[in-house]
Amino acid sequence: MKTQQERQPGKIATKFNQEKTREGKKLKIAVVAQDSQYPSTIQRFLAEADKSYPLISLIGGVQQVAAVAEQEQPDLLMLEGQYFSSMELETLNRVTSRFPDVGVVMLCPAQPPELLIEVMRAGVREVLPTPLTRHGVIDAVERFQQRIALSRMPMHECKVLAFIPCKGGSGATFLATNIAYALAAQENKRVALFDFNLQFGDASLFVQDGPPATSIADVARQIQRLDGSFLNSSMIQVLPNFGMLAAPESPEKAAEIRSEHINPLFQVAMKHYDFVILDVGRELDAISIQALDRADLIFPVLQQTLPSIRDARRMSAAFAALNYPDEKIRLIVNRYKKNADITLDDIESTLNLKIFKVVPNDYAVVTGSVNQGIPATKLAPRSPVAKSLQEIAHELCRGAGQGNLLRKLFAF
Ligand SMILES: Nc1ncnc2c1ncn2[C@@H]1O[C@H](COP(=O)(O)OP(=O)(O)OP(=O)(O)O)[C@@H](O)[C@H]1O
Ligand SMILES: [Mg+2]
Repeated sequence: MKTQQERQPGKIATKFNQEKTREGKKLKIAVVAQDSQYPSTIQRFLAEADKSYPLISLIGGVQQVAAVAEQEQPDLLMLEGQYFSSMELETLNRVTSRFPDVGVVMLCPAQPPELLIEVMRAGVREVLPTPLTRHGVIDAVERFQQRIALSRMPMHECKVLAFIPCKGGSGATFLATNIAYALAAQENKRVALFDFNLQFGDASLFVQDGPPATSIADVARQIQRLDGSFLNSSMIQVLPNFGMLAAPESPEKAAEIRSEHINPLFQVAMKHYDFVILDVGRELDAISIQALDRADLIFPVLQQTLPSIRDARRMSAAFAALNYPDEKIRLIVNRYKKNADITLDDIESTLNLKIFKVVPNDYAVVTGSVNQGIPATKLAPRSPVAKSLQEIAHELCRGAGQGNLLRKLFAF
């Protein structure tokens, strides 16, 4: 790559060449490492993948990071390091606070979680395990390129949609995750999903397998440095335009999330996404109420059973007490069966609310989707359940820019 410039410790001379792609400014990468094999490996991986980015390298460690950030203003700074002293962490923290737009990625062998948390607290956005793999490097670089594009998007209107089960197990998480996926995959919207089941959230398992690396608790802990790229890097990237902020992995961590974290979280998310989808637990508390307050529409999810309808009634009374207008509430009947004893008319007359949509019962497709962590619209796009989810996603977007249907849908 022509743009790479090898540097000696402490010497940083020429600026990056300003390269532009058709989509905008190119990501500028700086690699700071004791071992010169790192920049050359990264450069080779990028070249092999036919990606060219302005890249400079510097032989050194944390002490060089401040100068690189100041003089070169990279977008992505890859720092090799294994154990950092508290002084080095302090230095790193100063640099990342002063240059919050520089994404710092640490290159190191597998580390125990305590050490990772320490470096994350010092502002490191991601950790790439060494030995480096082509896939790991390319993915990280592409994520940062995308973050830059996101941060440069103009302000826009964002819709906040909350899904809440009237009774446990009604399917709120299934619908929230799958409609979020359909909004991103099929409608090309930028979508963020927050799992607000803070105690026992499981939304991440519906769209991917494996435990999430970060959660809402990590964002709350560093709320003062929250911006679009930090939020993006804290989310599971299900699709390039669909990120999910997972629930904390333990109730102790959930306790770290407080009411004052919620507004900043929404402010940043609403600036960067077209839809913010909330998966909210049925036990209402100060935090979930704050989240529901921010929602444009709330989708209580119920099934055609008496206990479900009884709980839906209680929930609708709670919404009335919170002064939510009826237009904000959009009932979804999930696992709908035509021949069930309880009809849709029964539900509407008992609750005195209109049903917004029904989603068919489809045990085989939904169980397969949930067990594999693959959204139903991807796993079985032609199934009736997938089609109904796609329809809902489409309806939530229809009229955007024209103001008619969407305005009607969101008007109250
Ligand atoms: N349309 C459907 N057809 C068949 N099964 C479904 C459907 N929707 C959801 N399910 C099943 O119901 C189970 C519970 O769904 P989900 O976890 O989404 O409910 P929830 O309302 O979020 O419950 P919780 O109270 O635990 O948060 C899922 O594991 C899935 O197998
Ligand atoms: Mg749930």
